[in-house]
Formats: sequence, C-alpha cells, structure tokens
Amino acid sequence: MAGTAMQLDEESDLPWVEKYRPNSLSDLVAHEAIISTITRFVEEKKLPHLLFYGPPGTGKTSTILAVAKQMYGKYFSSMALELNASDDRGINVVRDQIKAFASTQQIISKGVKLVILDEADSMTNAAQFALRRIIEKYTKTTRFCLIGNYVSKIIPALQSRCTRFRFMPLPYDVAATRIREISVCEGLNLTDDGLNALLDLGQGDMRKNLNILQSTSMAFKVIDSDAVYSCTGNPNPRLIDRLCEILLSMNFTEIYAEFNEDRITLGFALSDIIREIHKNMIKIDFPEKMKIFLIKRMSEIEMRLSSGASEKVQLGSLIGAFVEARALQF
Ligand SMILES: Nc1ncnc2c1ncn2[C@@H]1O[C@H](COP(=O)(O)OP(=O)(O)OP(=O)(O)O)[C@@H](O)[C@H]1O
Ligand SMILES: [Mg+2]
Repeated sequence: MAGTAMQLDEESDLPWVEKYRPNSLSDLVAHEAIISTITRFVEEKKLPHLLFYGPPGTGKTSTILAVAKQMYGKYFSSMALELNASDDRGINVVRDQIKAFASTQQIISKGVKLVILDEADSMTNAAQFALRRIIEKYTKTTRFCLIGNYVSKIIPALQSRCTRFRFMPLPYDVAATRIREISVCEGLNLTDDGLNALLDLGQGDMRKNLNILQSTSMAFKVIDSDAVYSCTGNPNPRLIDRLCEILLSMNFTEIYAEFNEDRITLGFALSDIIREIHKNMIKIDFPEKMKIFLIKRMSEIEMRLSSGASEKVQLGSLIGAFVEARALQF
C-alpha cells in the first residue's frame, strides 16, 4: 500500500509534460503519416537511421522514446542509448561512448540497438563528421536517430544516411482535443476561451501548452482567457483591442494618460504591447499606406527598446506615430 501511495505521489509531482508524455506510438496525436510509416518500420523490424526535425514541443523525443519502448520493452536501458545536449557530446563521446555501446554484444539476439542523439543540431561539426564513419561501421547492429530543431545544422553527409521526418507544429484542433482530455484527467475547469487563449499562446507547441495549463491551474480555479493571459504575463487581446481603439480615436494627451494607466497597473512590457498591437494591425481595416507607415515606426521603436531605450519616451513615440499617421490622412 505504502509503495502504491508513494508511486502516486511521485506521479502527481511530475510536470504534466512528463506525466502525459505518450507511452506508445498510438498515444501520439497528429503526424499521422509519420507515425504510420514508423509503426510499419517497427513492425517489420526494418528500422532505418532516422532524422527527426522541427520546432519544439511537437513530439520528436516522445516518438523515438515510444519506438524504443515498443521495440525493447524491459530491455530498454540496455538496448537504447540516449544522449542529449546536456551530456558532453564532443568528438570524444562520439568516439568512445557511442562506439563502446554500439560494439557490445546485443541482449536480444535479433533486432538492432538504438542510439538516440537528441538535440543533434548542437553537436560540433567535428563530432558530426566522426559520427558519419561510426554510423557506417555499426549499421549492421545499430540504428541511429538524430533529433534537432534545425535540419540545416546537421551536416549533409549525416542527412543523407538517414530517413528524414519533419514534425510540424500541432494543428490547433488536435492539440485542443488532447488538452481537453488532460484537463478532464486533472479535473480542471477549462473554459472555451481559456482553451483558445492557450492554443494562441502555444502556437502548436504541446510542451508550451501543457506548461501554461499546469501553471495557470495552480494559480486559478477557473482557467479562462483572463487567467491564461495573466498567468503568462501576456496582454489580453481585449486590452489590446481597446488600446488600438484609443490610438485611433483620441488625442495625444488623452491616449498618453490612458496608456500609462493600463500599462502601469497591469505591468506589461511596452515591447509585448507593441508586438500584440502589430498583430492586431494586420487585421484592422485601414489604408495600406497608413499601415506601412505605422509598422515602420513601430519596428524602430521596438529596436530602440531592445537596445535599452526608456519605455516612457518610447511610449510617447508610439502614440506620436499614431497621431501623426491620422493627421497625414493617407
Ligand atoms: N504529437 C504529440 N502527441 C501527444 N503529446 C505530445 C505530442 N507532441 C508533444 N507532446 C507533449 O509535449 C511534450 C514535449 O514533447 P517532446 O519532448 O516530444 O517534444 P520535442 O519535439 O522533442 O521538442 P524539442 O525540440 O523541444 O526537444 C511531451 O511530453 C508530450 O506531453
Ligand atoms: Mg526533444
């Protein structure tokens, strides 16, 4: 009993990205074509060397871990070697550790071993060149899976030895279904606009979605859009709509007063506000020339902010740009 209770405690302490990491290939959502191809490789025991690439939180690491679990079961730790960027992966590791693992006797007499090189795009070029030879030498007994965000950082010689799979950001509807399932498991009160806010901030990155969901659930009972935005420190779209309205209607002094009030009370960075206003401007219907004028001004302000200019002065400049654009009457 004590053991079970402890296990449960341990499980509930896990960050949700780990707690809900897919255990098998069939648990993974989206990427149907990739999953079905890889499932076939595994079932037919014809796994090629693999290269997974794509943006963060899309399931690359989860996929290969699921493959390894499916292929090896309890022999996982002796048949699969997992190295990621936190390990030293200079040329010596490639030479010694991978070589040692690849050349030891297999435990399961048939079937190949698997070397997972997570975040391979941060390996030095020298290590990648050394790997090229090793992959060739041990192809009979070992398969390699290289994972990275940027395929361009993997040398072409390695790319050509692998079957490449590109992991796209998760489509919103698929991510939404998964988030709903998890919020049912966790007994959360997630509203529809809360879910939309989550999807908007996550942009198809499931890790980001789950991390925001977990932190919001710790701070708020009801996870609605206000909770999600305030928990992540992002300005709420409703606030941005209102600020845009003010910018396009009031005079300089009035806008300055309103803005100062909102921004200081809510504590947002001007650069975040500018980024969100920019998103809105694409949607707002006003003359193209005016949009171009404003975007140019905003990009200058953004650059000045990033080099440490005063927020107050730059706020004045932002308001000035809108007032000036309206006066110019494009
Ligand atoms: N396709 C998916 N299906 C189900 N859950 C997913 C999927 N993709 C990501 N997740 C969730 O997001 C978490 C992070 O995924 P994972 O570690 O596989 O991302 P990654 O693609 O390796 O990202 P990175 O490039 O940052 O290493 C997982 O623990 C899982 O909970
Ligand atoms: Mg990963």
